[in-house]
Amino acid sequence: MVNILLNVVSRIILGVADSLWHTLTLTYVMVWDSTFLLLNTFTFQKRRGSLIPPGRPGHGGQWPEWHPPVASDSRSPCPALNAMANHGILPRDGKNIPFRDMSRAIRETYNFAPTFCFFVPLYMARVLGRSYTHGTVNLADVSLHNGIEHDASLLRHDTFLSPGGDQGKPSRDLIDGFFDSVKGDKVTVDDMSQYSELRRADCRRDNSQFSMNTFQKLFSSSNCATFIRTFGGSIPDLKSWLYDERLPEGWEPAGRAAWGVTMGAFQTTVLRIEAGIRPWESMDSAIGDLGGRYGLPTGERDAKTEGIGERAALLPGWKKAQVNGD
Ligand code: HEM
Repeated sequence: MVNILLNVVSRIILGVADSLWHTLTLTYVMVWDSTFLLLNTFTFQKRRGSLIPPGRPGHGGQWPEWHPPVASDSRSPCPALNAMANHGILPRDGKNIPFRDMSRAIRETYNFAPTFCFFVPLYMARVLGRSYTHGTVNLADVSLHNGIEHDASLLRHDTFLSPGGDQGKPSRDLIDGFFDSVKGDKVTVDDMSQYSELRRADCRRDNSQFSMNTFQKLFSSSNCATFIRTFGGSIPDLKSWLYDERLPEGWEPAGRAAWGVTMGAFQTTVLRIEAGIRPWESMDSAIGDLGGRYGLPTGERDAKTEGIGERAALLPGWKKAQVNGD
């Protein structure tokens, strides 16, 4: 009896301590991020060619040699991590990568502020139940479904719908569908919202195990935001990165802030994308979609929702004309 009681009490204490630790870490990251945000406000952006220091991979847009992965290599659902492994910035086999090395490599390659580069791998370590400080990860571990990886990805079919559930390879049909949907000569916030809306509607319809919570929606819109903030919407650069998971020759990150792109600054693009995604009656999220319905009176909400179901039958291989109704 005493043993049971001790067990219950220790579990409650550990649970509370874990939540407290998580909240404190989040607060610390937000304060830290605000500091970089402030520093960036008073510092000039880095000049082209000097964003990555001499001697580091990518200095002057010169990236280490690219090789496609071989069958035994470990790859993730993330084009950013896979591209780094394909260039040897992370181990080419994608295995046994210390979380801390991942943070540093992301910082140097994509010019995100140290806060983002710390927080996402830390979150990944937590999801996998590993230590950020001492732990390692194989890229394939990042595919853990509903860890960070979620349904309605832009460029990968849902785990439930894909053969073997492999998230390590991009789905070319979805990438084709994405570039077909882009309206101008650069990818815009509107393009990202429109494509996300279609992916979410398609996956809800086709995947009987579909789920997507509010955090996953925001993570998904964060991925979308990298198209704009890291690649400046450049179609040729994005094609290289998404189809081949390769950093283009001469490419440097579009975000040139001296202290790196902060989570705060990045969120302005994330929220614009998420707000542009028209809603679908949501049963999988406590507060529903954050999209156009958010804060609108009921009549307007219904008008915005109308027709999404019919238009959703468009991917892959759909054409712009069908969306625009012309
Ligand atoms: C910091 C470590 C990072 C981790 C642990 C990570 C993890 C992930 C995961 C789990 C996904 C799959 C999400 C889904 O199911 O759609 C993903 C997708 C993605 N990530 Fe990362 N990521 C990281 C950094 C980055 C960076 C620095 C960028 C951009 C420069 C980036 C861009 C993307 C994009 C565009 C996708 C969407 C791919 C798709 O929809 O198929 N990630 N990432």
